Amino acid sequence: MASIQRLGILTSGGDCAGLNAIIRAVTLHATQNYGWQVIGVQKGTYGLMVRPTLYETLEPSRFDGTTLRMGGTILGTTNKGDPFAFPMPNGERIDRSEEVIGGYRELGLDALIGIGGDGSFAILRRLAQQGGWKLVGVPKTIDNDIGITENSIGYTSAVAAATDALDHLQPTAASHDRVMVLEVMGRDAGHIALNAGIAGGADVILIPEIPYKLENVARKIESVKATGRNFALIVVAEAVRTDEGEAVTQTHGSGTATYGGVGHWIGARVAQMTGAETRVTVLGHIQRGGQPVPYDRILASALGVHAVDVLAAGRFDRMVAWQNRQVVDVPLEDGIKRYHSVDVEGPIVRTARALGICLGDQ
Ligand code: F6P
Repeated sequence: MASIQRLGILTSGGDCAGLNAIIRAVTLHATQNYGWQVIGVQKGTYGLMVRPTLYETLEPSRFDGTTLRMGGTILGTTNKGDPFAFPMPNGERIDRSEEVIGGYRELGLDALIGIGGDGSFAILRRLAQQGGWKLVGVPKTIDNDIGITENSIGYTSAVAAATDALDHLQPTAASHDRVMVLEVMGRDAGHIALNAGIAGGADVILIPEIPYKLENVARKIESVKATGRNFALIVVAEAVRTDEGEAVTQTHGSGTATYGGVGHWIGARVAQMTGAETRVTVLGHIQRGGQPVPYDRILASALGVHAVDVLAAGRFDRMVAWQNRQVVDVPLEDGIKRYHSVDVEGPIVRTARALGICLGDQ
């Protein structure tokens, strides 16, 4: 058994649906069943870096009837503040890790639950090793690219949002005889595109794991037309490249570049090659900010509770995960290293092919 009195919790990296359900589960279980105090660190590791530190004490009363279904994170987060290479206003990047470790000490924390994806876990683990923290990670990301858990919190809600978008696009496509292109997120993995594409009845799904040829996409659109159907739906994952292998990115005011825009590139080529009236929707952050679907609320609650139990049992440097219908905990290092891209020979790809969905390679 570990002696813990003050437990810290923070959210790190991009937000997703279900984060508040994790914070709620951790707070309820840790306070009510272990008698610990729970400190919610605000804005990820940035809240430990600055002085005064940014935090709130979390009590069960903080979680009224609305928290469980709220998108975003009540603690705030950041996906661009690596404390080992922190961007300063003059453009320099400096190591501010000791300030973060000082903040942890100042708050009197005995252990930390870090909610993040592989990038956040790598940073938190380095901080934990340097500062002697007792750390447990809870996996969240709409990209579902953490290899050692079958599902990351937030992913199923993102698939639901993308499927909902296809459900909205289909009637307008049919009304106007159009080809609709939907670009979805997922960073370097095609899970959202593939799964939402199947669920939403797409004719073409392009993912970064399967190289495509524009001729194959055009042929599929022509064959849909030949059956007498007057519309088609194409789903494109944001990391799909142009036919010359270029990633399509957007650079934001802060100088950060993210994927975004390949849907327009594909839409223009399809229009040119088939003569079809084509429109493009880039779904963007709508996949992240909405209400968590019930599955994500349950996964978040189960993994949040287990993270507390893992700490109470004196196990650290672990990540909680969902495997074979069970909550388990695994070395945090495996959560960082085992990347999960779409299995191109797997059952979901086979399902798509069997349904006649064009994946661009044939
Ligand atoms: O990793 C989550 C994610 O939503 C990716 O799917 C996407 O590429 C990226 O974050 C967008 O980042 P930002 O919120 O900085 O625009």
